[in-house]
Amino acid sequence: MRLYVDTANLKEIREAVSWGVVSGVTTNPTLVAREKFADFHAAVREIAGMVEGPVSAEAVSLETPAMLDEARTLAGLAPNVMVKIPMTPAGLRAVRQLAAEGIATNVTLVFSAAQALLAALAGATCVSVFVGRLDDAGHDGMEVVRETVEIFERHALDAQVIAASIRHPLHVVQAALAGADVATVPFKVLEQLFRHPLTDQGIERFLADWQELAAKP
Ligand code: E4P
Repeated sequence: MRLYVDTANLKEIREAVSWGVVSGVTTNPTLVAREKFADFHAAVREIAGMVEGPVSAEAVSLETPAMLDEARTLAGLAPNVMVKIPMTPAGLRAVRQLAAEGIATNVTLVFSAAQALLAALAGATCVSVFVGRLDDAGHDGMEVVRETVEIFERHALDAQVIAASIRHPLHVVQAALAGADVATVPFKVLEQLFRHPLTDQGIERFLADWQELAAKP
């Protein structure tokens, strides 16, 4: 399973990429709005230059023709831009056309295996299952990831499964066990993935022992 960082913050992306474990970036309109970019397209270009893997940028139009215009513009910003399209009939119509044009898509706001199946049939490159938001609503978000992975495998569908709306490190482990292709993870959760109290204690102990040795005449 690959890890993407789920943020539009340039500092966070730079830092996460420097750790050597992140191969892509996902953004959404909320994350982009938070950064108050003067020029959104320039920001997408800059982010796309920071990673080798895909950078998801979302189309915000609701009708297919406008979505297609937006998607073509976004995809033209850099070769690794993947266009996020919402899980609606208009969105899937756009996905079908974009697939024909060779433009990679990430169908977003997927909350059921049925929606994931439709997105894959329309030709989506990726589908993003929003695990945390499902959990928040009292459902088992990871079960939707498991079902989607099983359906795609059983029917040899090409779309990749992204576990999105990740809230904590356990979600990442569960997504990996469920067979998700990608987990897209907020920066804070990425930081949490590194941590274990025994690692900190171990480093402290090793350093103390080493310094004691060095202090001996
Ligand atoms: C996915 O690509 C989305 O940007 C993201 O995971 C949404 O998560 P949220 O529920 O934390 O907003």
